[in-house]
Amino acid sequence: MKNLLSIITLVLCVWLSFGCTDGAQKRKSGEVSFHRIHASSLFPSSSPCVLSPRASNTKSSLLVMHTHGPCSSLSSKKATTSPKTPNHDDILRLDQARVKSIHSRLSKKSTVQDRVSQSQSTDLEVRDGSTLGSGNYIVTVGIGTPKHNLSLVFDTGSDLTWTQCEPCGKSKTCYPQEEPIFNPSSSTSYSNLSCSSPFCNSLTSQGYYRNCSASNCIYGAVYGDRSFTLGFLAKEKFTLNSDVFDNINFGCGENNKGLFYGAAGLLGLGRGTFSFPSQTAMTYNNIFSYCLPSSPDYTGHLTFGSTGGLSNSVKYTPISTSTDSASFYGLDIVGITVAGKELEIPLTVFSTAGAIIDSGTVITRLPPMAYAALRTAFKENMSNYTITMGRAILDTCYNFTGLESVEIPKVSLSFEGGTVVEVDSRGILYVFDVSQVCLAFAGNGDDGDVAIFGNVQQMTIEVVYDGAGGRVGFAPNGCM
Ligand SMILES: *[C@@H]1O[C@H](CO)[C@@H](O)[C@H](O)[C@H]1NC(C)=O
Ligand SMILES: *[C@@H]1O[C@H](CO)[C@@H](O)[C@H](O)[C@H]1NC(C)=O
Ligand SMILES: *[C@@H]1O[C@H](CO)[C@@H](O)[C@H](O)[C@H]1NC(C)=O
Ligand SMILES: *[C@@H]1O[C@H](CO)[C@@H](O)[C@H](O)[C@H]1NC(C)=O
Ligand SMILES: *[C@@H]1O[C@H](CO)[C@@H](O)[C@H](O)[C@H]1NC(C)=O
Ligand SMILES: *[C@@H]1O[C@H](CO)[C@@H](O)[C@H](O)[C@H]1NC(C)=O
Repeated sequence: MKNLLSIITLVLCVWLSFGCTDGAQKRKSGEVSFHRIHASSLFPSSSPCVLSPRASNTKSSLLVMHTHGPCSSLSSKKATTSPKTPNHDDILRLDQARVKSIHSRLSKKSTVQDRVSQSQSTDLEVRDGSTLGSGNYIVTVGIGTPKHNLSLVFDTGSDLTWTQCEPCGKSKTCYPQEEPIFNPSSSTSYSNLSCSSPFCNSLTSQGYYRNCSASNCIYGAVYGDRSFTLGFLAKEKFTLNSDVFDNINFGCGENNKGLFYGAAGLLGLGRGTFSFPSQTAMTYNNIFSYCLPSSPDYTGHLTFGSTGGLSNSVKYTPISTSTDSASFYGLDIVGITVAGKELEIPLTVFSTAGAIIDSGTVITRLPPMAYAALRTAFKENMSNYTITMGRAILDTCYNFTGLESVEIPKVSLSFEGGTVVEVDSRGILYVFDVSQVCLAFAGNGDDGDVAIFGNVQQMTIEVVYDGAGGRVGFAPNGCM
């Protein structure tokens, strides 16, 4: 099996002319501490979608696609209704909006009073203020009877699953989506939840807006960039490949606004009781894992239930209790290694802020002092390359024009329990173009702001969320 994998990898390396030299350069005494990358591999190719080989094997495994690019189910044939592909500056701006709202939600400085005055500033409750950012990754799930396939952005930072529903309010307030909008009146398994249902009654305590209309339960969620969804709380049949769940509580949104880039809604993978893993815990034991592909040319997977054959290579860290959030998965970062050398960062720098892992944040955010140490070490090792100006939240950038290959130092993050996660070579740099390639990490503005392990750094890693076991695990080479 391992041989077969290396052959496949080798063939792909040759075919895609990727710089897959890491493996070949491993020394017996230990691994080399840099990546040699062909400059051409830094850019998306124009190849067609390459499907992940793992995804079809498990019945509870869904294909994960980038919202844009050849693999996306949202890559439109009907270009007129499809929203524009965001550019890098949009992505990073939205990312900062998401991070800002996460910080205000988890702020150690924020008091009850802050939250109250915050929630009075808009019509809807804003405590669940995670913006959907650039909505990078989607999966397709079947909803209703007959089954209606819908592409949903998945989000480990929020709980409620929702999709846009007909009739989209009196003034047609749905944003454009690629697939036909779900129509509850054409599904025989749909039912509204009543205002007296326990699920409806816990909306407010879970950070959502709640109201009643003719004893039907109304929910609302506002995200940090002011995108929102408002509609009926309902029950429906959900189908994931061949797994069928008859009574999933979800939001049937008739009034929705936001930048979802054609996705039909959201699959909530957070830790709260509303989330999809919590609602399917009887079947999947509150365990799921995903692998985010390194480029829009590949698919990854989102798999519910036990990790099966992978379990040996997964290294776990406990879900941290120091970050007080019902939805987020907290982690304890304890160190950073650059080019094989552990940086000297006092442990209190990490413990003061705490950390979470988030599928929806793009760029990893570190406490200011930790980021400064990372940047210094990275710059030192990259001193052979031409520095160029920073862009958006990224301040350490290089001009690689004319270079055939570059050597970049390896970066890894260490977590509580001795778990070390090596960032994939494609998760270290954010590429605007060949003349502006930047270190893909950023510093927080405040020592007290929570650190976030973002999705660029998670690429190709199998990330296992074991809610029942209170731990998050990592294994290399989960997908391409
Ligand atoms: C829905 O998706 C599944 C698997 O992705 C596919 O087999 C099925 O044909 C699709 N159904 C419809 C109605 O498009
Ligand atoms: C759900 O409630 C809405 C609003 O009252 C109503 O129009 C719709 O028919 C209800 N659906 C079902 C299946 O009862
Ligand atoms: C609940 O809905 C009614 C009308 O449907 C509206 O008048 C009222 O303001 C809403 N309550 C809240 C707290 O938003
Ligand atoms: C960067 O780190 C690697 C691995 O430790 C080392 O071989 C290389 O010489 C360093 N480069 C510079 C310019 O310091
Ligand atoms: C970096 O520069 C030093 C000194 O100029 C040189 O010895 C070394 O080989 C260079 N390293 C790389 C990776 O180009
Ligand atoms: C990058 O370097 C090339 C070649 O040295 C130069 O022509 C170009 O102007 C540089 N671009 C930027 C943005 O600095």
